[in-house]
Amino acid sequence: MLKSRLLSIANFRIVTFPALSSLTEVTKPPEYSRNKISIIGAGQVGMAFAFACQNQHIADEIAIVDVMGDKLKGELMDLQQGAYFQPYVKVYGGTDLSVTKDSQICIVTAGSRQKDKETRLDLLGKNINILKKIIPEIVNCSPEGTILIVTNPVDILAYATWKLSGLPANRVIGSGTNLDMSRFISMVAKKYNISTQSVFMWILGEHGDSMVPMWSSFSVAGKALLKNTEKVDEDWINNFKAVVKSAYEVRALKGCTQYAVSLSCVDICNSILTNANKVRAVSTLAKGFYGIEEEVFISLPCVLGQNGVSHMVNLEFTDSEMCALQESACKVAKFQEGMLK
Ligand SMILES: NC(=O)c1ccc[n+]([C@@H]2O[C@H](COP(=O)([O-])OP(=O)(O)OC[C@H]3O[C@@H](n4cnc5c(N)ncnc54)[C@H](O)[C@@H]3O)[C@@H](O)[C@H]2O)c1
Repeated sequence: MLKSRLLSIANFRIVTFPALSSLTEVTKPPEYSRNKISIIGAGQVGMAFAFACQNQHIADEIAIVDVMGDKLKGELMDLQQGAYFQPYVKVYGGTDLSVTKDSQICIVTAGSRQKDKETRLDLLGKNINILKKIIPEIVNCSPEGTILIVTNPVDILAYATWKLSGLPANRVIGSGTNLDMSRFISMVAKKYNISTQSVFMWILGEHGDSMVPMWSSFSVAGKALLKNTEKVDEDWINNFKAVVKSAYEVRALKGCTQYAVSLSCVDICNSILTNANKVRAVSTLAKGFYGIEEEVFISLPCVLGQNGVSHMVNLEFTDSEMCALQESACKVAKFQEGMLK
C-alpha cells in the first residue's frame, strides 16, 4: 500500500509555467468593446453604479466623465486599484465626453441632487441646462447607444433627453420606478422574512410623489395578497406611503441615496446588454398606452433588450389604478409645460 502510494507520488509530473514574455496574437481584438457603459457624473450615484457594474461584471469597459477633474481622477484610481479582486474590466475616464465613444449605454447621473425639503421637480431648472450641454455630444459619440437617465426629476429629464437627442423613443429610458418597486418589495420581503424574489407588485407612473401602487398586482409566493384591491388595508397604504417618502428620509439621514438606485440601474443595463428581455418599470414615452394622452415619460412595464425598450406590456389593472396612472401622467405633463422653450 505504502509502496504504491510512493510510486504514484514519484510519477507526478512537475509542470512549470514559462515566463510570459510575449503574447501571440491569434486574432485581432475588436476595435471597440461590445459591452461598454459610460457614466456621466462621477458623484454618489455614478460611482456607486460604477462599483456595482464592476462587481457584477455586466460590462467589459466602463468610461466615466465628470467636470471635476481631480475628483474624477481620485475616483478612477480608487476603482482601478481593486482590479486584482475583480473580473477584468477596463475602467477609464476624463472630463471630455469623447471618452464615451461607442458606448452601448450612457447613463446620466450628472447634476444637482435634492437639498433638504427640495422636491425632484425643484431640480428641473438646474439639471435641464446640464442636459442641453451634454446630450448632443453623447449622441454624437455613441449614435447607436441607449441613454439611461437617472438625474432628477428623472421622468421630465428623460423626456427632455428624447427631444434633445433626436433618438427614437425606445433608446431613451429613465430609471423610473424600478427603484421604488425594489423599495416596496424589499420592505414586504423583510416583513415576512422571505426572499424578495417571492414578492411582487407593480409601481408605475411618476418617480415621485404621484407614483401609483398597482395593488391588483400585489402577490406573495405567486398568490394575490389583497382580497379587495379597491379597499386596501390602512397598514399597506401606510407602508406604501413610507416607500414614497423613503428617499427623503434616506437623504435626511445620510445626505444622498445611491446604492439602491445603482443596483436598479445595473438591473436595467444588464437586461439591455445581454438582450435578456426582462420586463421592468422604466420611464418611457407613455402617450397612447394605458389611456395616457399626454406626451410624457413615466414608468410603465417595458421589455428591455438590446434596442432599449423593445415592447410595452399591456397589463390589465383596475379602473381606479388606471385613473391614478393617468393622473400621474397629467401631473408630470403640467410640470414639463414650457420646459424646453
Ligand atoms: N432617479 C433616481 O432614482 C435617483 C436616485 C438618486 C439620485 N438621483 C439623482 O441623480 C443625480 C446625481 O445624484 P448624486 O447624489 O450622484 O449627486 P452628486 O452631486 O454626488 O454628483 C453629481 C455629479 O455630477 C457632476 N456634474 C455636474 N455637471 C456635470 C457635467 N456637465 N458633466 C459631467 N458631470 C457633471 C458633478 O461634478 C458631480 O460629481 C441627482 O439629480 C439626484 O437627484 C436620482
